[in-house]
Amino acid sequence: MDIAGRALLAPMSTFTNLPFRLLCQRHGCQGTTVPLVSAKALIMHNGESNELDPDPSERFVGVQIFGASAGDIGKAARLIAKKYDFLSYIDINCACPVKKVVRNGAGSALLRKPEVAAEMIKTAMECGLPVTVKLRKSASDARTLGFCLACEAAGASALFIHGRLPSQGYSGEADWKAISHVAQNVSVPVIGSGDIRSTGQGKLLTAESGCKGFMIGRAAMTDPGIFSPPQGASPERKRSLFMEYLSLCEEFGMKRFLDLKSKAIQIFSGFRGSAAMRKRLCGCAGEDELLKTTGAD
Ligand SMILES: Cc1cc2nc3c(=O)[nH]c(=O)nc-3n(C[C@H](O)[C@H](O)[C@H](O)COP(=O)(O)O)c2cc1C
Repeated sequence: MDIAGRALLAPMSTFTNLPFRLLCQRHGCQGTTVPLVSAKALIMHNGESNELDPDPSERFVGVQIFGASAGDIGKAARLIAKKYDFLSYIDINCACPVKKVVRNGAGSALLRKPEVAAEMIKTAMECGLPVTVKLRKSASDARTLGFCLACEAAGASALFIHGRLPSQGYSGEADWKAISHVAQNVSVPVIGSGDIRSTGQGKLLTAESGCKGFMIGRAAMTDPGIFSPPQGASPERKRSLFMEYLSLCEEFGMKRFLDLKSKAIQIFSGFRGSAAMRKRLCGCAGEDELLKTTGAD
């Protein structure tokens, strides 16, 4: 799997849709993941899902699936791989701390069941694509490593590690020491995730930790151009990024008011007066008003 050295966009459910992923890729991002597709829902609808939106124009794109049984994960992986022959990997979510996912035994609940995760990797690999795992850290470095070794032994091609416990949500700092402990003790590439605010910082943390690459999440929500050399947060630059997003949405028939609003609220930040602008954006009731407020009309 050709993953080493890449600056990736972290999967973020409902946010990193196709136009957003392409926007990041146009600005230097070297790989993206379609976030959190339910294996069960996919099987029920014979491979169809609104969230499943990869496109051949994306470079190095994978699909992340979640589920509670190896049977579901295997079936979903085969459906996806058959439909999209350009994918670079299938990712299994063992990270999501959201109650309705964990309650059913999926997402971060799998961190306590390495043998189930291992079985999932094996059945997913039958689809013919490399299989990766996205996880959060566990209560001790030994447990995190134990889980990762089980994934490696089952055949995982790479591990994406967010250095927080599931119970932490996004509080506290990401624990890059925990990520590094895994990176130093497994043979598969480890990609680190958590609190990266620039590609420079990402490269530094990658080198220091022994990782093979990094992912940027929340910092890319506010600046999808973060994967390029720093260019500041002027309102003009933010407007240009937003307009590019709008035009990608139009190109792919994916223009939706609420989505545009959530993207605008994130992107128009970091410059003098942006707080007041975001307040106005929050109050927008329709697309025309939103585009007028952003200056994109
Ligand atoms: C709004 C939001 C949605 C997320 N959705 C997912 C998801 O669907 N799958 C996943 O593996 N991680 C998800 N994450 C976690 C990110 O991929 C990433 O690991 C985490 O945000 C830490 O990186 P950051 O500090 O750069 O944001 C999500 C994070 C956020 C903020």
